[in-house]
Amino acid sequence: MFILMFNSAVFKKLEKKDFRTLLGIEAGMKSYQWVPLEMIPAFSKLRDKEVLYRIDRLLELEVIKKTIVPYEGCKIYFKGYDMLALGMLTRRGLSAIGERIGVGKESVVYEGIYDDAPVILKFHRAGQTSFKQVTRQRDTGTRDHWIFIAGRAAWREHEALVALHDSVAAPRCVDYNRHVVVMSVAPGCELSKTTVDDPEWFLDRILEQVRKAYEFGFIHSDLSEYNVFVSPDGVEIIDWPGYVTTKHPQADYLLNRDVKNILTIFNRKYGAVRDHEKVVGYVKGL
Ligand SMILES: Nc1ncnc2c1ncn2[C@@H]1O[C@H](COP(=O)(O)OP(=O)(O)O)[C@@H](O)[C@H]1O
Ligand SMILES: [Mg+2]
Repeated sequence: MFILMFNSAVFKKLEKKDFRTLLGIEAGMKSYQWVPLEMIPAFSKLRDKEVLYRIDRLLELEVIKKTIVPYEGCKIYFKGYDMLALGMLTRRGLSAIGERIGVGKESVVYEGIYDDAPVILKFHRAGQTSFKQVTRQRDTGTRDHWIFIAGRAAWREHEALVALHDSVAAPRCVDYNRHVVVMSVAPGCELSKTTVDDPEWFLDRILEQVRKAYEFGFIHSDLSEYNVFVSPDGVEIIDWPGYVTTKHPQADYLLNRDVKNILTIFNRKYGAVRDHEKVVGYVKGL
């Protein structure tokens, strides 16, 4: 495997039993905030001595964290979760990770190669910061482990990409594991980074996609010039983990906000004028 990212060295150093230990800690995190040291041999099906040796290694590689109060326990650090996801994806077709191409609000995005084709790897990071805030306030259940929050975001994004694939211009989902979604590379570049020659045509293309998604029962709910890719062939909408269905109690509010975001950008940047209500009506097929 040919990896260029910052933790490539860590990935290469990890041995089979390191992975088993990590998997054991991950399993334990479903029930514990800090997985008790004495439980890890059972979770990872390794001998006590082996686990102690592995834990020292994993701590050194900074893929797990350890506490000694109120008892000795471990949990996975985000780098460790990255390693588990990469381990699985590598077995299934991922052969390279290249440049980091984006750091979004709640993700880190890399280029990669999967089954000999270029792909995008999106590492979800949702929950990482809020997790700290939450634990400071109260001792929460294990559902608040950021790995599970980020995992849910990735699952939602994967679900949206798969569902919308035939009807909406969005990346194709190539694979998905834990908090990582592997998807096709959107052609062109973000609307925010370019000035298009034919704004009315591009605006029509975007609204067409919003309408198709709505017809299919989906509202993006984070639509912005950063989440729309434009190319001479048309548009592609990315960044779907925050979608809601058209039955969601906030559906109307979120749809109106999406439409407003897009109309505002085209108005400010290109002077395009559209009637908000009419556009919403068009999207809803009224
Ligand atoms: N499929 C894709 N093709 C090309 N670039 C992408 C793709 N997905 C994400 N990116 C890049 O990564 C950035 C962050 O990804 P995004 O899905 O928007 O996540 P966030 O929720 O963090 O904003 C995007 O603004 C874009 O530059
Ligand atoms: Mg985005």
